[in-house]
This record gives sequence, structure tokens and C-alpha cells, in this order.
Amino acid sequence: MAGRWSNDDIPWGRFDPAKVDPDILAAVKAAALVERNAQDYVAYLNNVFPDDPQFQENIAAWGFEEEQHGLALAAWAVHADPSFDFQGSLARFRDSFQLPLDATASVRGSRAGEMIARCVVECGTSSLYSALRDATDEPVLEAICNRIAGDEFRHYKLFYEGFLKCDATVHLSLWQRIKVAVGRIAETSDDELSMAYWAANHAAEPYDRVRHGNAYALRVGRLYRFGHVRRAIGMVMKACRLNPQGRVADCIGYAGWTFLQHRNRRLARAAA
Ligand SMILES: [Fe+2]
Ligand SMILES: [Fe+2]
Repeated sequence: MAGRWSNDDIPWGRFDPAKVDPDILAAVKAAALVERNAQDYVAYLNNVFPDDPQFQENIAAWGFEEEQHGLALAAWAVHADPSFDFQGSLARFRDSFQLPLDATASVRGSRAGEMIARCVVECGTSSLYSALRDATDEPVLEAICNRIAGDEFRHYKLFYEGFLKCDATVHLSLWQRIKVAVGRIAETSDDELSMAYWAANHAAEPYDRVRHGNAYALRVGRLYRFGHVRRAIGMVMKACRLNPQGRVADCIGYAGWTFLQHRNRRLARAAA
């Protein structure tokens, strides 16, 4: 399978070690593990959509692109820190974190719900890599994140169209749509990201969900600007079939931005 781009397209010659931020490096190492682990999600989604060969084909291409994100981020992390053992970290992460691969139906209760949850994830990744691209001074990481962010916005579109198709058959109520979206957002504090952060950066110490999760959340949360938050919230609202542009969306956007700033300050105080 060929993707839209590969590590050969990255301008590695422009790498500037003096512009590597250690906090961004730690977050990138964790993100590389999560992205590289996408095949488990491909297997899970194939279980949820066993009778849709076209969607399975799209999911295979999606999984390939997510893995490419992991490979590019890992290669950049090794440039920045040649001691980074990507394969060892990935093995540790995969040993510790398991998806429900034996599931034969969506853990969200419906296929439409599954698509909303996938949209929420792509809102998170598209905003993360946009924020990383805009925050870093390191030219190669900026180029990588620019490509990844473009892919993540396309992934959102893939799952949004999947949601519309599923929702046309089995319609979810507004409450059900919001419940899935909010539930998936709340899961960002579950084990996956904190375990990836631990496996990539602190494997010599015991895993601590709260401590390692907070360390990751602070490093990532500080990268965001208002525009990243506002756009992500609009995309989540669109996936719930709510108006992403109106006054309500603006209010939720400001509330989300205020919450993030408070959380960043709280996490910084706790880490000090
Ligand atoms: Fe990705
Ligand atoms: Fe994605």
C-alpha cells in the first residue's frame, strides 16, 4: 500500500537540534507510539463493519496513514534524541495497553456512535498536530506536523461521512450523539496516552496513570492556541449534527479555551 507521503518526502537536511524543545520531544515520542499502534484499531473497526468491504478498504488506507504518522514522528524523535529506543518503547506500550480486539460490535453501542467517536479522535489529532506545527521552531517537525494535520482533517471527513451513512439507517437522538462525543472526550484521560507517555519517556519507573497522564496533558495543552480549540470544538459539534459556527459554538469554544488554560495552570503548579 502506498500513502500520500513517506519519510522520504521529509526535508531531514533542515533539522536543527538547537530548536528542539525537550517538552515537545517527550510529547512527540508518546504520540509516535499511539500512531504506530493503529493496526489494532483497524482490526477493531473491521469487526464493527464486517459486511462493508468499501469501508474496510478505506479503513486499511486510514490505518496505513496513521502508522506513517508514527514512523515520521519516531524518526524525528531519534534525530532529536539518538538514544530513543522506539521499538523497545513500542513493545512496552503494546504489552501494557490492549484494545478490545475480540469485540464484534461497537463499544459505543452503535455504528453511528462509533463514527462519532472516531470523529472526536480525529478532532483531537488534527488540532494537536496543527498546534504542534504552530508551536515548534524546529523546521523538520513543523513540516512533519503540517503533513500529519492535513491527513487528520481528511480522516475526520472519512468518519464524518461514515457517520452520515450509518445515521441514515439507525438514527441516534441528539442526546445519544452528545453522550458518545462527550464520553470519548472524557476517555482522553484514560490509559492510552498516559501509558504511551510512560513507555516512551519514563519506563524505568512504575507506571502511574495520573502522574504520567498529567505530564503528557501539560506538555500538549500548552501548545494550543484559541483557534485550535475553537476549530476542534466546531468539528465535534458538527459530528453531533449541531451548528459548528453559531453563538452556542462560540460560547463552548471560549469555555473550552478557558478550561484548558485553567488546567494548564493547575498542572504546572502541581508539577513545580
Ligand atoms: Fe494520525
Ligand atoms: Fe487520523
